[in-house]
Amino acid sequence: MRRKVVAGNWKMNGNRQIAKDLAVGVSKIVERLNSSAEILVAPPFVLMTDVAENVSSSVNLAAQDVSSYDNGAYTGEVSVDMLSEFGCAYSIVGHSERRALFGDTDEVVAAKVAKCVEKNVQPIVCVGETLEERESGKTLEVIGGQLHSALEKLTGDELEKVIVAYEPVWAIGTGKTATPEQAQEVHEFIRGEVAALDEATASVMPIIYGGSVNAGNAKSLFAMADIDGGLVGGASLKLEEFEEICKAIG
Ligand code: PGA
Repeated sequence: MRRKVVAGNWKMNGNRQIAKDLAVGVSKIVERLNSSAEILVAPPFVLMTDVAENVSSSVNLAAQDVSSYDNGAYTGEVSVDMLSEFGCAYSIVGHSERRALFGDTDEVVAAKVAKCVEKNVQPIVCVGETLEERESGKTLEVIGGQLHSALEKLTGDELEKVIVAYEPVWAIGTGKTATPEQAQEVHEFIRGEVAALDEATASVMPIIYGGSVNAGNAKSLFAMADIDGGLVGGASLKLEEFEEICKAIG
């Protein structure tokens, strides 16, 4: 059986009080649902302490990004070891907002992924096409390229630590979701590409969908054969809605 993962990406939202309230709220959700899925929250770095001090041990902490460097003169960066001190065992890497707004190239993403697996933090590697790329029939080519550059240097053991998130750029924060069939097509492709790197890992790797996941569409997305959960932005800031999404994963 494959692991299921639902991750709340809070992005640059909230403050200390909101983070504490969300941490307590998500802990209650996880307690109530007794879900078989791994439920993650990814707060802004500076709110990690407030979250770590207020979540139950059944909620997993994730970072929204991480440095590819260990330590030193890298102003503004946060290392994997610093995150690990908070019990943060996952990091989103290569989110489309990082790629589009902050210059995270495929090479940078690959270096961050490599650092995470070296240090035993699970990278949630984001891949996704723009609307223009989809409309010109380039979706699978773009996803394949992003995936290969992020994963091709990893050994089988390292690959096992990776979670892939398919996030069509046109669906992020727009209220437009990929249909379950559109998402499934790409997830199946991703699993095939991972199989070409390492057959055994492909069957167990969680591949999660992100892009306007909400209480109304989560169930039909999660019902697809290769969709193992969700990376949830906006809806992860609303506890009732996040609970419905966590319920949908079962
Ligand atoms: P969204 O964001 O759910 O608000 O579309 C998803 C993401 O960017 O991870």
